[in-house]
Amino acid sequence: MINKRMRRIVGLLLIVDGLLVTLLGRPFVKLFRFGPRGSAYRRLMTWWSRRPAWLLRASGAIQAAAGAAVLNSAPLSVHEFYPTIAETHAKHDTAWRDWLHADAHAAFDRLMVQHLPPDGDILDLGCGTGANLTRLQQMGADIGTYTGVDISRPLLNQFAQKEDPGAIVHLEQLNLEADPLPEGPFDLIVCTWALEHLRYPAAVVQKAYAHLRPGGYMVLLFGVNTGYWWGRLVNRILHFASARQLPEDLYFTFPGFHRIRTYRGALGDLALIVLRKPIAVS
Ligand SMILES: C[S@@+](CC[C@H](N)C(=O)[O-])C[C@H]1O[C@@H](n2cnc3c(N)ncnc32)[C@H](O)[C@@H]1O
Repeated sequence: MINKRMRRIVGLLLIVDGLLVTLLGRPFVKLFRFGPRGSAYRRLMTWWSRRPAWLLRASGAIQAAAGAAVLNSAPLSVHEFYPTIAETHAKHDTAWRDWLHADAHAAFDRLMVQHLPPDGDILDLGCGTGANLTRLQQMGADIGTYTGVDISRPLLNQFAQKEDPGAIVHLEQLNLEADPLPEGPFDLIVCTWALEHLRYPAAVVQKAYAHLRPGGYMVLLFGVNTGYWWGRLVNRILHFASARQLPEDLYFTFPGFHRIRTYRGALGDLALIVLRKPIAVS
């Protein structure tokens, strides 16, 4: 049986090559007419490069799809995926936020500030390298404490390098699904792009909601699967990083549902959701 690493390499090569054939068509196929004149390989490639353009492009698309299927048979677990991108995470994270999802993130940032009371306590679920804290600080938010939790030690290490854990900032390595969350209670619980990695995201939202102070808010941003062909394709790619967009009907089951805004992101649809815990009536 071909091992996982080999399947990933083969899958990637098939995808890249297939996409180039689909996009560039005949000129790209012609590049493969190499080798000694008259050799079987060269004659085959010459014959192939003369097929109708639509056939070449269609075969490229089929090859890319086959490559995706091979890749998907050997997905990277969260523990494999994030350490490989830990050092550069902050850089692509900026492109991800400010370029690919600028509107949604601007709205998310506004909601964080709007729902954080002065000197409030924040919990960040799947905090990564701390982009949400950076945004809060840049916006001059009045933070009491910030607790960031994440399963990935390398990402938390990156976080700790730029932000000294101390009186205000607490970082904890834990698995959102299996471990208890920091007690709190918190005034604001945020989560960006982490629910997609969870097997039971609604259960984790429910668990976190229990750590919200009465009158507190949760602000969540994540990708949703609205069933469009593009979203379905993206989901297949996300599967490789052990992630998936959340089904649309799932988030209406979240507790304390307060409001939702949806966005059309470059890689599919996004939901920005606010949950609110009512102030207890005595
Ligand atoms: C796409 S990153 C987002 C990081 C950060 N929230 C941000 O917006 O920059 C997803 C994060 O979820 C974390 N994560 C995935 N599964 C997790 C789990 N079961 N428990 C805790 N964290 C998890 C990953 O380690 C990673 O840091």
